[in-house]
Amino acid sequence: MSFAPKNNIFSILKNSKPGQTVRALGWVRTKREIKNVQFIALNDGSTLSNLQVVLDPAGFDMELLKKINTGAAIEVEGVIEESQGQGQQMDLKAEKIKLLGEADPEEYPIQPKRHSMEFLRELGHLRPRTNTFSAIFRLRHQLAMAIHRYFDQKGFYYLHSPVITGSDAEGAGEMFRVTTLNPINPPKNEDGDVDFKEDFFGKETNLTVSGQLEAEIAALALSKVYTFGPTFRAENSNTTRHLAEFWMIEPEMAFFDLEDDMDLAEEMLQFVLKEVLHHSSEDLAFLAKRFDDEQKQKPQNERSPWTLIERIKFVIENKFIRVPYDEAFQILRNSKPNKKKRFEYPVENWGMDFQSEHEKYLVEKHFKSPVIIYNYPKDIKAFYMRENEDGKTVAAMDILFPSIGEIVGGSQREERHDVLLEKIRKNNIPEKDVWWYLETRKFGTVPHSGFGLGFERLMVFLTGMGNIRDVIPFPRAPKLAEY
Ligand code: 4AD
Ligand code: MG
Repeated sequence: MSFAPKNNIFSILKNSKPGQTVRALGWVRTKREIKNVQFIALNDGSTLSNLQVVLDPAGFDMELLKKINTGAAIEVEGVIEESQGQGQQMDLKAEKIKLLGEADPEEYPIQPKRHSMEFLRELGHLRPRTNTFSAIFRLRHQLAMAIHRYFDQKGFYYLHSPVITGSDAEGAGEMFRVTTLNPINPPKNEDGDVDFKEDFFGKETNLTVSGQLEAEIAALALSKVYTFGPTFRAENSNTTRHLAEFWMIEPEMAFFDLEDDMDLAEEMLQFVLKEVLHHSSEDLAFLAKRFDDEQKQKPQNERSPWTLIERIKFVIENKFIRVPYDEAFQILRNSKPNKKKRFEYPVENWGMDFQSEHEKYLVEKHFKSPVIIYNYPKDIKAFYMRENEDGKTVAAMDILFPSIGEIVGGSQREERHDVLLEKIRKNNIPEKDVWWYLETRKFGTVPHSGFGLGFERLMVFLTGMGNIRDVIPFPRAPKLAEY
């Protein structure tokens, strides 16, 4: 083909004028023929909108035209014209067409109609070609960029924490082992146990559950850092909110107390949602329509009280209400659903962890606002959280969003060496695994805080998708690791 500029469809639709010669490359979404004119909807993923290619079949090879079907890849050169039809401003009047890749219409599974999410989940290699998933993946990019912009503007450094780790940050024992030992016949030590001294790293290693401990080291030198990387949890939870591999954003700040931590988290969430609302209105409008259609299928009492855009604005425009665990516990214990035994997990004893039904009640029914719960009972939280004066609670905080529940978990860190050492011993964490972490409390220790934001949880909130497996390109979950 010749030398017309090879622009993407987004820029062709945005910048071209009638009479201009352009070259477009993409995948065929649909082809129709009306009164001896063929119309091809062409999409290259740069925008939700298709470019309408118009052609007079008489000017082209019949065999070539037969192969231009849904799913095929083509290159078209032609002239931009004002569109005669409705639904688009301009057409590309084709002069030359090249078939780049065929797609047998008998076999190509993605049809120009609405497919179920379950069906598309089986087609992880082709679902990016649908409107829904291309919109989601563009939004994922926008959201990630907005997060980087926020931290960059605030003077944070992006820290790359390791994926393979010799420590267990959360201490919850749900890690994936990393080993090169032969599982059938591993080397044994004198006690008959597997001898990890023989393993690749000379010790037991796992995929990280969190980059926090490494981020703390960096914050105690660079003052403000954040990580943004994949994290792994081997918990066998087959829910719409859990993945075995998910991305987490973990800022860590020296000289921040819990209140500074909450302020930062609130400001960041509002900033990034505002940015995406501003930059991705076309994709969000598409998903908002989808969300709306889906709500209409649901029984009245399960429908969202908001449209998707209202739900996002609800978080941007409302101050997050901050309540200590104590108070949240009292509210839940005295609540109507608790008294009428409508919670699956009754709220009776101080010290219990809240379940998502409780979080939903607090956010959607009681406060009608995003909520931050802080000062949790120490027994249900991780060893590194700073113990409060009362001896019963720690300076922890969880941020709860409508429909999602927990989206952020964070805390002020225990910076006192003696208190931390006691906690580590109480939790049976081998000191030899965390000696370096303890040393940061020996040399120039300072108050510091941080939190973890689940990237896919925020994506679920932003896109209105019902299942977290649909907001990550290749989900990893129990019995699910295709591609
Ligand atoms: O509350 P979590 O476990 O906190 C930490 O890992 C801390 N080290 C964070 C820190 O203080 N630096 O996880 C943080 C967030 C949760 O609030 C949730 O949004 C998300 O990570 N998350 C998951 N998202 C998807 N699938 C899972 N299995 C998740 N587990 C946690
Ligand atoms: Mg948590």
